[in-house]
Amino acid sequence: MTLIVLDRMSLLGRIVAVSKDSEIQRLAQQYGREVFGADDLTEALNTVKTVSPNLILFDHRFNPSHIREFLTKADKYLADVPVVAVGGDDSDTGLSNEFIRMGAYDYLQGKQDYSRLEQIICRIKDNLRTTDPGARHEKGSLESGSEQSTSRFFVESLAASVSMVGKSSAIINTLKMTKLVAGSRCNPILIVGETGTGKEVIARAIHTLRHPNEEFVPVNCAALTANLLESELFGHVKGSFTGADREKTGLLELAGSGTLLLDEISEMPMDLQAKLLRVLQEKTFRKVGGIKNIECKATIMASSNRNLNNEVQANRFRRDLYYRLNVGPITLAPLRSPDRREDIRLLAEYFLKTSNICPEKHAKITSLTQLAMEALEKHDWPGNVRELSNVIERAILLETTDKIGLSGIVIDPSECSRVSGSPTANLIKGFSLAKAERELISRALQETGWQKTRAAALLGITRATLYAKVKQYNIEKNSSAAKKSASVKEEQNEFPVSSLHDSVAIC
Ligand SMILES: Nc1ncnc2c1ncn2[C@@H]1O[C@H](COP(=O)(O)OP(=O)(O)OP(=O)(O)O)[C@@H](O)[C@H]1O
Ligand SMILES: [Mg+2]
Repeated sequence: MTLIVLDRMSLLGRIVAVSKDSEIQRLAQQYGREVFGADDLTEALNTVKTVSPNLILFDHRFNPSHIREFLTKADKYLADVPVVAVGGDDSDTGLSNEFIRMGAYDYLQGKQDYSRLEQIICRIKDNLRTTDPGARHEKGSLESGSEQSTSRFFVESLAASVSMVGKSSAIINTLKMTKLVAGSRCNPILIVGETGTGKEVIARAIHTLRHPNEEFVPVNCAALTANLLESELFGHVKGSFTGADREKTGLLELAGSGTLLLDEISEMPMDLQAKLLRVLQEKTFRKVGGIKNIECKATIMASSNRNLNNEVQANRFRRDLYYRLNVGPITLAPLRSPDRREDIRLLAEYFLKTSNICPEKHAKITSLTQLAMEALEKHDWPGNVRELSNVIERAILLETTDKIGLSGIVIDPSECSRVSGSPTANLIKGFSLAKAERELISRALQETGWQKTRAAALLGITRATLYAKVKQYNIEKNSSAAKKSASVKEEQNEFPVSSLHDSVAIC
Protein backbone atom coordinates (compact mmCIF):
# COMPACT_ATOMS: atom_id res chain seq x y z
CA MET A 1 0.00 0.00 0.00
CA THR A 2 1.31 3.48 -0.86
CA LEU A 3 1.82 5.68 2.12
CA ILE A 4 0.39 9.12 1.59
CA VAL A 5 1.92 11.85 3.68
CA LEU A 6 -0.74 14.38 4.35
CA ASP A 7 -0.51 17.85 5.64
CA ARG A 8 -2.26 17.84 9.04
CA MET A 9 -4.74 20.39 7.70
CA SER A 10 -5.93 17.77 5.17
CA LEU A 11 -7.03 15.42 7.91
CA LEU A 12 -10.63 15.01 8.85
CA GLY A 13 -11.65 15.11 12.48
CA ARG A 14 -13.32 11.77 13.09
CA ILE A 15 -13.68 8.76 10.84
CA VAL A 16 -15.66 5.64 11.66
CA ALA A 17 -14.39 2.58 9.78
CA VAL A 18 -17.04 -0.14 9.57
CA SER A 19 -14.84 -3.09 8.73
CA LYS A 20 -12.87 -5.94 10.24
CA ASP A 21 -10.19 -5.41 7.62
CA SER A 22 -7.00 -3.97 9.12
CA GLU A 23 -6.05 -2.37 5.76
CA ILE A 24 -9.22 -0.28 5.86
CA GLN A 25 -8.61 0.65 9.49
CA ARG A 26 -5.10 1.77 8.48
CA LEU A 27 -6.50 3.73 5.55
CA ALA A 28 -8.83 5.56 7.93
CA GLN A 29 -5.89 6.31 10.23
CA GLN A 30 -4.03 8.05 7.41
CA TYR A 31 -6.83 10.52 6.90
CA GLY A 32 -8.54 10.96 10.24
CA ARG A 33 -7.36 12.63 13.42
CA GLU A 34 -9.44 10.15 15.38
CA VAL A 35 -10.49 6.77 14.02
CA PHE A 36 -13.18 4.51 15.50
CA GLY A 37 -13.64 0.93 14.33
CA ALA A 38 -16.95 -0.92 14.18
CA ASP A 39 -17.50 -4.54 13.18
CA ASP A 40 -21.18 -4.49 12.34
CA LEU A 41 -24.11 -2.17 11.67
CA THR A 42 -25.35 -2.05 15.28
CA GLU A 43 -21.92 -1.11 16.58
CA ALA A 44 -21.51 1.40 13.76
CA LEU A 45 -24.81 3.08 14.63
CA ASN A 46 -23.90 3.30 18.32
CA THR A 47 -20.47 4.71 17.50
CA VAL A 48 -21.93 7.26 15.09
CA LYS A 49 -24.40 8.38 17.77
CA THR A 50 -21.67 8.96 20.30
CA VAL A 51 -18.80 10.37 18.27
CA SER A 52 -20.52 12.40 15.50
CA PRO A 53 -18.01 11.49 12.78
CA ASN A 54 -17.11 13.49 9.68
CA LEU A 55 -16.87 10.43 7.46
CA ILE A 56 -17.81 6.76 7.54
CA LEU A 57 -15.90 4.13 5.58
CA PHE A 58 -17.75 0.92 4.79
CA ASP A 59 -16.03 -2.10 3.43
CA HIS A 60 -17.62 -3.96 0.52
CA ARG A 61 -18.60 -6.93 2.66
CA PHE A 62 -21.56 -4.80 3.64
CA ASN A 63 -23.67 -4.78 0.51
CA PRO A 64 -25.30 -1.59 -0.89
CA SER A 65 -28.63 -2.25 0.81
CA HIS A 66 -26.83 -2.41 4.20
CA ILE A 67 -25.59 1.10 3.49
CA ARG A 68 -29.07 2.30 2.76
CA GLU A 69 -30.45 0.62 5.88
CA PHE A 70 -27.69 2.23 7.91
CA LEU A 71 -28.27 5.68 6.41
CA THR A 72 -31.99 5.46 7.11
CA LYS A 73 -31.33 4.63 10.76
CA ALA A 74 -28.44 7.08 11.17
CA ASP A 75 -30.51 9.89 9.64
CA LYS A 76 -32.36 10.24 12.94
CA TYR A 77 -29.15 10.97 14.84
CA LEU A 78 -27.04 12.86 12.34
CA ALA A 79 -28.21 15.29 9.69
CA ASP A 80 -25.95 13.76 7.05
CA VAL A 81 -22.65 12.07 7.18
CA PRO A 82 -20.84 11.07 4.00
CA VAL A 83 -20.29 7.37 3.53
CA VAL A 84 -17.50 6.08 1.31
CA ALA A 85 -17.67 2.41 0.32
CA VAL A 86 -14.34 0.63 -0.11
CA GLY A 87 -14.44 -2.17 -2.68
CA GLY A 88 -12.15 -5.18 -2.90
CA ASP A 89 -9.35 -5.33 -5.47
CA ASP A 90 -11.38 -7.64 -7.69
CA SER A 91 -14.77 -6.01 -7.09
CA ASP A 92 -17.18 -5.83 -9.97
CA THR A 93 -17.09 -2.30 -11.43
CA GLY A 94 -20.90 -2.31 -11.69
CA LEU A 95 -21.01 -2.37 -7.89
CA SER A 96 -19.86 1.22 -7.59
CA ASN A 97 -23.05 2.61 -9.14
CA GLU A 98 -25.13 0.45 -6.87
CA PHE A 99 -23.31 1.78 -3.79
CA ILE A 100 -23.70 5.37 -4.97
CA ARG A 101 -27.39 4.85 -5.70
CA MET A 102 -27.85 3.48 -2.21
CA GLY A 103 -26.59 6.76 -0.83
CA ALA A 104 -22.81 6.35 -0.61
CA TYR A 105 -20.91 9.58 -1.29
CA ASP A 106 -18.20 7.83 -3.27
CA TYR A 107 -16.68 4.43 -3.94
CA LEU A 108 -13.06 3.28 -3.92
CA GLN A 109 -12.30 0.48 -6.36
CA GLY A 110 -9.89 -1.56 -4.23
CA LYS A 111 -6.36 -0.72 -3.06
CA GLN A 112 -5.31 0.84 -6.34
CA ASP A 113 -7.90 3.51 -5.68
CA TYR A 114 -7.11 4.20 -1.99
CA SER A 115 -5.14 7.35 -2.81
CA ARG A 116 -8.33 8.96 -4.17
CA LEU A 117 -9.59 9.24 -0.61
CA GLU A 118 -7.50 12.39 -0.31
CA GLN A 119 -9.45 14.10 -3.14
CA ILE A 120 -12.72 12.88 -1.67
CA ILE A 121 -11.85 14.42 1.67
CA CYS A 122 -10.98 17.71 -0.04
CA ARG A 123 -14.35 17.61 -1.79
CA ILE A 124 -16.15 16.95 1.46
CA LYS A 125 -14.32 19.89 3.02
CA ASP A 126 -15.14 22.13 0.03
CA ASN A 127 -18.82 21.22 0.31
CA LEU A 128 -18.68 22.03 3.94
CA ARG A 129 -17.24 25.46 3.22
CA THR A 130 -19.72 26.33 0.47
CA THR A 131 -22.76 25.11 2.35
CA ASP A 132 -21.73 26.51 5.70
CA PRO A 133 -19.01 29.15 5.81
CA GLY A 134 -19.02 28.94 9.59
CA ALA A 135 -17.82 25.38 9.33
CA ARG A 136 -14.40 26.40 8.08
CA HIS A 137 -13.11 25.10 11.36
CA GLU A 138 -14.29 21.57 11.74
CA LYS A 139 -16.97 20.94 14.24
CA GLY A 140 -17.97 17.59 15.62
CA SER A 141 -20.25 16.74 12.74
CA LEU A 142 -19.98 17.47 9.07
CA GLU A 143 -22.77 19.84 8.20
CA SER A 144 -23.04 19.33 4.51
CA GLY A 145 -26.76 19.73 5.02
CA SER A 146 -29.14 18.30 2.46
CA GLU A 147 -26.25 17.80 0.02
CA GLN A 148 -25.79 14.17 1.00
CA SER A 149 -29.28 13.11 1.93
CA THR A 150 -31.12 10.91 -0.53
CA SER A 151 -34.02 10.14 1.78
CA ARG A 152 -36.39 12.62 0.10
CA PHE A 153 -36.44 10.42 -3.01
CA PHE A 154 -37.96 7.41 -1.28
CA VAL A 155 -41.23 6.44 0.32
CA GLU A 156 -39.83 6.09 3.80
CA SER A 157 -42.82 4.45 5.46
CA LEU A 158 -42.15 1.42 3.29
CA ALA A 159 -39.26 -1.00 3.54
CA ALA A 160 -35.93 0.74 4.04
CA SER A 161 -34.13 -1.73 1.84
CA VAL A 162 -36.22 -0.92 -1.23
CA SER A 163 -34.13 1.55 -3.19
CA MET A 164 -36.98 2.46 -5.50
CA VAL A 165 -37.07 6.17 -6.15
CA GLY A 166 -40.58 7.48 -6.58
CA LYS A 167 -43.58 8.81 -4.73
CA SER A 168 -46.27 8.40 -7.38
CA SER A 169 -49.38 6.33 -6.69
CA ALA A 170 -48.08 3.68 -9.11
CA ILE A 171 -44.85 3.27 -7.13
CA ILE A 172 -46.61 3.35 -3.76
CA ASN A 173 -48.89 0.52 -4.91
CA THR A 174 -45.97 -1.47 -6.30
CA LEU A 175 -44.02 -1.05 -3.07
CA LYS A 176 -47.00 -2.09 -0.96
CA MET A 177 -47.33 -5.24 -3.05
CA THR A 178 -43.58 -5.82 -2.84
CA LYS A 179 -43.68 -5.65 0.92
CA LEU A 180 -46.67 -8.00 1.11
CA VAL A 181 -45.07 -10.54 -1.18
CA ALA A 182 -41.69 -10.32 0.56
CA GLY A 183 -43.31 -10.94 3.94
CA SER A 184 -45.28 -13.93 2.65
CA ARG A 185 -44.18 -17.39 1.57
CA CYS A 186 -45.14 -16.67 -2.02
CA ASN A 187 -42.83 -18.73 -4.23
CA PRO A 188 -42.46 -18.35 -7.22
CA ILE A 189 -42.77 -14.59 -7.60
CA LEU A 190 -43.55 -12.94 -10.92
CA ILE A 191 -42.46 -9.36 -11.70
CA VAL A 192 -43.67 -7.77 -14.93
CA GLY A 193 -43.25 -4.44 -16.66
CA GLU A 194 -41.67 -2.85 -19.71
CA THR A 195 -37.91 -2.80 -20.09
CA GLY A 196 -36.13 -0.47 -17.67
CA THR A 197 -39.06 -0.02 -15.30
CA GLY A 198 -37.20 -1.47 -12.29
CA LYS A 199 -38.07 -5.17 -12.21
CA GLU A 200 -34.59 -6.17 -11.07
CA VAL A 201 -34.60 -3.42 -8.44
CA ILE A 202 -37.78 -4.95 -7.01
CA ALA A 203 -36.41 -8.50 -7.26
CA ARG A 204 -33.30 -7.47 -5.30
CA ALA A 205 -35.43 -5.67 -2.74
CA ILE A 206 -37.57 -8.75 -2.09
CA HIS A 207 -34.42 -10.81 -1.85
CA THR A 208 -32.89 -8.42 0.70
CA LEU A 209 -36.07 -8.40 2.75
CA ARG A 210 -36.41 -12.18 2.70
CA HIS A 211 -32.91 -13.57 2.66
CA PRO A 212 -30.48 -10.70 3.42
CA ASN A 213 -27.52 -13.01 3.93
CA GLU A 214 -28.07 -15.47 1.11
CA GLU A 215 -27.09 -15.54 -2.55
CA PHE A 216 -28.97 -13.58 -5.23
CA VAL A 217 -28.45 -15.36 -8.56
CA PRO A 218 -29.84 -13.71 -11.71
CA VAL A 219 -29.88 -15.51 -15.07
CA ASN A 220 -31.02 -14.08 -18.38
CA CYS A 221 -33.07 -16.75 -20.16
CA ALA A 222 -32.69 -14.96 -23.51
CA ALA A 223 -28.92 -14.98 -23.50
CA LEU A 224 -28.35 -18.75 -23.64
CA THR A 225 -29.26 -21.54 -26.02
CA ALA A 226 -31.79 -24.11 -24.79
CA ASN A 227 -29.17 -26.73 -23.92
CA LEU A 228 -26.84 -24.28 -22.23
CA LEU A 229 -29.67 -22.78 -20.21
CA GLU A 230 -30.74 -26.19 -18.98
CA SER A 231 -27.26 -27.13 -17.81
CA GLU A 232 -26.74 -23.63 -16.33
CA LEU A 233 -29.92 -23.96 -14.31
CA PHE A 234 -29.76 -27.57 -13.22
CA GLY A 235 -26.06 -28.35 -13.58
CA HIS A 236 -24.86 -31.57 -15.22
CA VAL A 237 -23.01 -34.72 -14.34
CA LYS A 238 -19.72 -35.63 -15.97
CA GLY A 239 -20.15 -37.27 -19.37
CA SER A 240 -23.84 -36.38 -19.70
CA PHE A 241 -23.18 -34.82 -23.12
CA THR A 242 -20.24 -34.16 -25.42
CA GLY A 243 -18.07 -31.60 -23.75
CA ALA A 244 -19.37 -32.31 -20.23
CA ASP A 245 -15.91 -33.28 -19.04
CA ARG A 246 -16.59 -32.45 -15.43
CA GLU A 247 -19.53 -32.19 -13.07
CA LYS A 248 -21.21 -28.80 -12.93
CA THR A 249 -23.27 -27.24 -10.16
CA GLY A 250 -26.36 -25.49 -11.49
CA LEU A 251 -27.57 -22.01 -10.57
CA LEU A 252 -30.58 -23.46 -8.74
CA GLU A 253 -28.20 -25.21 -6.40
CA LEU A 254 -25.86 -22.21 -6.17
CA ALA A 255 -28.76 -20.01 -5.08
CA GLY A 256 -29.07 -22.25 -1.98
CA SER A 257 -31.66 -20.73 0.33
CA GLY A 258 -31.43 -17.40 -1.46
CA THR A 259 -32.99 -16.28 -4.73
CA LEU A 260 -32.82 -17.38 -8.35
CA LEU A 261 -34.08 -14.66 -10.71
CA LEU A 262 -35.13 -15.95 -14.13
CA ASP A 263 -34.94 -12.78 -16.18
CA GLU A 264 -36.87 -12.64 -19.46
CA ILE A 265 -38.71 -15.86 -18.62
CA SER A 266 -40.81 -15.52 -21.81
CA GLU A 267 -37.71 -16.51 -23.78
CA MET A 268 -37.34 -19.86 -22.02
CA PRO A 269 -37.81 -22.79 -24.45
CA MET A 270 -41.07 -24.70 -24.03
CA ASP A 271 -39.51 -28.01 -22.95
CA LEU A 272 -37.47 -26.23 -20.30
CA GLN A 273 -40.63 -24.45 -19.15
CA ALA A 274 -42.10 -27.91 -18.45
CA LYS A 275 -39.02 -28.86 -16.42
CA LEU A 276 -39.19 -25.61 -14.47
CA LEU A 277 -42.85 -26.24 -13.67
CA ARG A 278 -41.90 -29.61 -12.24
CA VAL A 279 -39.28 -27.98 -9.99
CA LEU A 280 -41.82 -25.43 -8.77
CA GLN A 281 -44.30 -28.16 -7.91
CA GLU A 282 -42.01 -30.80 -6.51
CA LYS A 283 -39.30 -28.56 -5.05
CA THR A 284 -36.64 -30.96 -6.28
CA PHE A 285 -34.62 -31.28 -9.47
CA ARG A 286 -31.93 -33.41 -11.06
CA LYS A 287 -28.76 -32.41 -12.81
CA VAL A 288 -28.69 -33.06 -16.56
CA GLY A 289 -27.83 -36.78 -16.81
CA GLY A 290 -28.10 -37.18 -13.03
CA ILE A 291 -30.27 -39.56 -11.01
CA LYS A 292 -30.09 -37.94 -7.59
CA ASN A 293 -32.91 -35.62 -6.51
CA ILE A 294 -31.63 -32.30 -5.20
CA GLU A 295 -33.84 -30.21 -2.96
CA CYS A 296 -34.64 -26.71 -4.20
CA LYS A 297 -34.76 -24.30 -1.26
CA ALA A 298 -34.44 -21.06 -3.18
CA THR A 299 -37.11 -18.46 -3.83
CA ILE A 300 -37.67 -18.50 -7.57
CA MET A 301 -38.45 -15.15 -9.14
CA ALA A 302 -39.29 -14.63 -12.79
CA SER A 303 -39.41 -11.34 -14.62
CA SER A 304 -40.76 -10.47 -18.03
CA ASN A 305 -41.07 -7.40 -20.18
CA ARG A 306 -43.52 -9.22 -22.43
CA ASN A 307 -47.15 -9.71 -21.54
CA LEU A 308 -47.12 -13.42 -20.61
CA ASN A 309 -50.84 -13.74 -21.14
CA ASN A 310 -50.32 -12.72 -24.80
CA GLU A 311 -47.45 -15.19 -25.03
CA VAL A 312 -49.77 -17.94 -23.77
CA GLN A 313 -52.40 -16.98 -26.37
CA ALA A 314 -49.70 -17.15 -29.06
CA ASN A 315 -48.65 -20.63 -27.83
CA ARG A 316 -45.17 -19.41 -26.95
CA PHE A 317 -45.55 -19.82 -23.20
CA ARG A 318 -47.05 -22.72 -21.26
CA ARG A 319 -50.42 -21.91 -19.75
CA ASP A 320 -49.84 -24.15 -16.70
CA LEU A 321 -46.52 -22.43 -15.91
CA TYR A 322 -48.12 -19.03 -16.37
CA TYR A 323 -50.81 -19.87 -13.80
CA ARG A 324 -48.20 -21.25 -11.40
CA LEU A 325 -46.14 -18.03 -11.67
CA ASN A 326 -49.01 -15.59 -11.63
CA VAL A 327 -50.10 -15.97 -7.98
CA GLY A 328 -49.09 -12.54 -6.67
CA PRO A 329 -47.62 -10.70 -9.64
CA ILE A 330 -45.87 -7.40 -9.08
CA THR A 331 -46.37 -4.92 -11.92
CA LEU A 332 -44.15 -1.95 -12.72
CA ALA A 333 -45.96 0.80 -14.61
CA PRO A 334 -44.20 2.48 -17.54
CA LEU A 335 -42.69 5.82 -16.59
CA ARG A 336 -45.01 7.63 -19.02
CA SER A 337 -48.19 6.24 -17.47
CA PRO A 338 -50.35 8.97 -15.92
CA ASP A 339 -49.98 7.53 -12.43
CA ARG A 340 -46.14 7.35 -12.60
CA ARG A 341 -45.28 10.38 -14.70
CA GLU A 342 -44.81 12.65 -11.70
CA ASP A 343 -41.74 10.57 -10.72
CA ILE A 344 -39.79 11.77 -13.79
CA ARG A 345 -38.76 14.96 -11.98
CA LEU A 346 -37.77 13.12 -8.80
CA LEU A 347 -35.83 10.47 -10.70
CA ALA A 348 -33.99 13.10 -12.77
CA GLU A 349 -32.94 14.93 -9.59
CA TYR A 350 -31.93 11.65 -7.99
CA PHE A 351 -29.74 10.56 -10.90
CA LEU A 352 -28.18 14.02 -11.03
CA LYS A 353 -27.34 13.80 -7.36
CA THR A 354 -26.11 10.23 -7.27
CA SER A 355 -24.43 9.73 -10.64
CA ASN A 356 -20.82 8.73 -10.44
CA ILE A 357 -20.02 9.38 -14.08
CA CYS A 358 -17.90 12.48 -13.50
CA PRO A 359 -16.83 12.53 -9.86
CA GLU A 360 -15.16 15.92 -10.29
CA LYS A 361 -18.49 17.46 -11.33
CA HIS A 362 -20.42 15.62 -8.65
CA ALA A 363 -21.10 18.53 -6.31
CA LYS A 364 -20.82 21.27 -8.94
CA ILE A 365 -23.84 20.54 -11.13
CA THR A 366 -26.66 21.26 -8.78
CA SER A 367 -29.86 21.32 -10.83
CA LEU A 368 -31.66 21.33 -14.16
CA THR A 369 -33.20 24.43 -15.73
CA GLN A 370 -36.98 24.68 -15.87
CA LEU A 371 -36.92 24.14 -19.66
CA ALA A 372 -34.73 21.06 -19.38
CA MET A 373 -37.02 19.60 -16.73
CA GLU A 374 -40.11 20.32 -18.84
CA ALA A 375 -38.51 18.56 -21.80
CA LEU A 376 -37.89 15.50 -19.64
CA GLU A 377 -41.44 15.56 -18.37
CA LYS A 378 -42.85 15.68 -21.91
CA HIS A 379 -40.83 12.78 -23.28
CA ASP A 380 -42.38 9.36 -23.60
CA TRP A 381 -39.49 7.29 -22.13
CA PRO A 382 -39.85 4.02 -24.08
CA GLY A 383 -36.71 2.83 -22.27
CA ASN A 384 -38.23 3.95 -18.96
CA VAL A 385 -36.02 4.62 -15.93
CA ARG A 386 -32.91 3.17 -17.58
CA GLU A 387 -33.28 5.60 -20.48
CA LEU A 388 -33.84 8.53 -18.12
CA SER A 389 -30.76 7.61 -16.11
CA ASN A 390 -28.67 7.46 -19.31
CA VAL A 391 -29.98 10.83 -20.50
CA ILE A 392 -29.03 12.45 -17.20
CA GLU A 393 -25.56 10.87 -17.23
CA ARG A 394 -25.01 12.10 -20.79
CA ALA A 395 -26.15 15.58 -19.72
CA ILE A 396 -23.68 15.57 -16.80
CA LEU A 397 -20.88 14.59 -19.19
CA LEU A 398 -21.73 17.46 -21.56
CA GLU A 399 -22.43 20.15 -18.99
CA THR A 400 -19.85 22.80 -18.30
CA THR A 401 -21.91 25.06 -16.02
CA ASP A 402 -23.59 24.38 -12.70
CA LYS A 403 -27.03 23.78 -14.28
CA ILE A 404 -28.15 21.33 -16.94
CA GLY A 405 -29.94 23.23 -19.69
CA LEU A 406 -32.18 22.14 -22.57
CA SER A 407 -29.20 21.70 -24.91
CA GLY A 408 -27.76 19.08 -22.55
CA ILE A 409 -30.84 16.89 -22.83
CA VAL A 410 -30.00 14.62 -25.74
CA ILE A 411 -32.40 11.80 -26.37
CA ASP A 412 -31.32 8.83 -28.47
CA PRO A 413 -33.21 9.25 -31.77
CA SER A 414 -33.68 5.49 -32.08
CA GLU A 415 -35.81 5.60 -28.95
CA CYS A 416 -37.98 8.32 -30.52
CA SER A 417 -38.98 6.04 -33.38
CA ARG A 418 -41.53 4.56 -31.04
CA VAL A 419 -43.20 7.88 -30.35
CA SER A 420 -46.03 8.60 -32.72
CA GLY A 421 -46.61 12.12 -33.94
CA SER A 422 -43.04 13.44 -33.53
CA PRO A 423 -41.25 14.85 -36.58
CA THR A 424 -38.59 12.15 -36.32
CA ALA A 425 -41.20 9.45 -36.07
CA ASN A 426 -42.76 10.64 -39.34
CA LEU A 427 -39.39 10.74 -41.06
CA ILE A 428 -38.59 7.17 -40.22
CA LYS A 429 -42.04 5.69 -40.63
CA GLY A 430 -41.88 2.13 -41.92
CA PHE A 431 -38.38 1.72 -40.56
CA SER A 432 -37.51 0.26 -37.19
CA LEU A 433 -34.49 -0.49 -35.11
CA ALA A 434 -35.60 -4.12 -34.89
CA LYS A 435 -35.69 -4.41 -38.69
CA ALA A 436 -32.28 -2.84 -39.06
CA GLU A 437 -30.81 -5.07 -36.38
CA ARG A 438 -32.25 -8.19 -37.92
CA GLU A 439 -30.99 -7.21 -41.33
CA LEU A 440 -27.49 -6.62 -40.03
CA ILE A 441 -27.36 -9.91 -38.14
CA SER A 442 -28.62 -11.86 -41.17
CA ARG A 443 -25.95 -10.27 -43.36
CA ALA A 444 -23.16 -10.98 -40.88
CA LEU A 445 -24.24 -14.61 -40.67
CA GLN A 446 -24.43 -14.95 -44.45
CA GLU A 447 -21.05 -13.31 -44.91
CA THR A 448 -19.39 -15.65 -42.44
CA GLY A 449 -21.17 -18.73 -43.72
CA TRP A 450 -23.04 -18.99 -40.40
CA GLN A 451 -19.88 -19.18 -38.31
CA LYS A 452 -21.37 -17.69 -35.21
CA THR A 453 -18.11 -16.80 -33.47
CA ARG A 454 -16.94 -14.83 -36.52
CA ALA A 455 -20.35 -13.25 -37.04
CA ALA A 456 -20.48 -12.17 -33.39
CA ALA A 457 -16.98 -10.68 -33.68
CA LEU A 458 -18.01 -8.86 -36.85
CA LEU A 459 -21.01 -7.39 -35.09
CA GLY A 460 -19.07 -6.55 -31.94
CA ILE A 461 -21.35 -8.63 -29.70
CA THR A 462 -20.89 -11.81 -27.67
CA ARG A 463 -21.84 -15.21 -29.00
CA ALA A 464 -24.53 -15.48 -26.32
CA THR A 465 -26.12 -12.22 -27.50
CA LEU A 466 -25.94 -13.40 -31.10
CA TYR A 467 -27.72 -16.65 -30.20
CA ALA A 468 -30.39 -14.71 -28.36
CA LYS A 469 -30.94 -12.34 -31.31
CA VAL A 470 -31.06 -15.15 -33.87
CA LYS A 471 -33.74 -16.73 -31.75
CA GLN A 472 -35.60 -13.49 -31.11
CA TYR A 473 -35.79 -12.61 -34.80
CA ASN A 474 -36.27 -16.19 -35.90
CA ILE A 475 -33.42 -15.95 -38.42
CA GLU A 476 -32.97 -19.15 -40.37
CA LYS A 477 -30.03 -20.38 -42.37
CA ASN A 478 -31.53 -20.78 -45.81
CA SER A 479 -33.65 -17.71 -46.18
CA SER A 480 -32.72 -14.32 -47.52
CA ALA A 481 -32.48 -11.45 -45.12
CA ALA A 482 -34.89 -9.40 -47.19
CA LYS A 483 -37.59 -12.04 -47.16
CA LYS A 484 -37.23 -12.46 -43.45
CA SER A 485 -37.34 -8.81 -42.56
CA ALA A 486 -40.94 -8.72 -43.75
CA SER A 487 -41.80 -11.06 -40.93
CA VAL A 488 -39.96 -9.18 -38.22
CA LYS A 489 -42.20 -8.94 -35.25
CA GLU A 490 -42.36 -5.25 -34.52
CA GLU A 491 -41.77 -4.44 -30.93
CA GLN A 492 -45.14 -3.87 -29.37
CA ASN A 493 -46.17 -1.91 -26.38
CA GLU A 494 -46.97 -4.82 -24.11
CA PHE A 495 -48.01 -2.79 -21.11
CA PRO A 496 -50.13 -0.07 -22.74
CA VAL A 497 -51.07 3.17 -21.09
CA SER A 498 -53.97 5.41 -21.86
CA SER A 499 -52.40 8.77 -22.60
CA LEU A 500 -49.70 8.29 -25.19
CA HIS A 501 -51.10 10.92 -27.54
CA ASP A 502 -49.92 13.83 -25.42
CA SER A 503 -46.27 12.74 -25.32
CA VAL A 504 -43.71 14.85 -27.14
CA ALA A 505 -40.27 13.61 -28.09
CA ILE A 506 -37.24 15.83 -27.82
CA CYS A 507 -35.09 14.76 -30.67
N1 LIG B 1 -37.40 3.59 -9.21
C1 LIG B 1 -36.09 3.53 -9.46
N2 LIG B 1 -35.26 4.25 -8.71
C2 LIG B 1 -33.93 4.26 -8.98
N3 LIG B 1 -33.36 3.57 -9.97
C3 LIG B 1 -34.15 2.82 -10.73
C4 LIG B 1 -35.55 2.75 -10.51
N4 LIG B 1 -36.08 1.93 -11.43
C5 LIG B 1 -35.06 1.50 -12.19
N5 LIG B 1 -33.91 2.04 -11.78
C6 LIG B 1 -32.59 1.86 -12.41
O1 LIG B 1 -32.84 1.74 -13.81
C7 LIG B 1 -32.06 0.69 -14.39
C8 LIG B 1 -33.00 -0.37 -14.97
O2 LIG B 1 -33.68 -1.02 -13.92
P1 LIG B 1 -33.90 -2.59 -13.93
O3 LIG B 1 -32.67 -3.30 -14.39
O4 LIG B 1 -34.46 -3.01 -12.60
O5 LIG B 1 -35.00 -2.69 -15.07
P2 LIG B 1 -35.75 -3.95 -15.65
O6 LIG B 1 -37.21 -3.69 -15.52
O7 LIG B 1 -35.24 -5.20 -15.01
O8 LIG B 1 -35.34 -3.86 -17.19
P3 LIG B 1 -35.16 -5.05 -18.28
O9 LIG B 1 -36.53 -5.59 -18.57
O10 LIG B 1 -34.58 -4.35 -19.46
O11 LIG B 1 -34.26 -6.08 -17.69
C9 LIG B 1 -31.17 0.18 -13.27
O12 LIG B 1 -29.95 0.87 -13.34
C10 LIG B 1 -31.92 0.56 -12.00
O13 LIG B 1 -31.03 0.76 -10.91
MG1 LIG C 1 -34.06 -6.81 -15.82
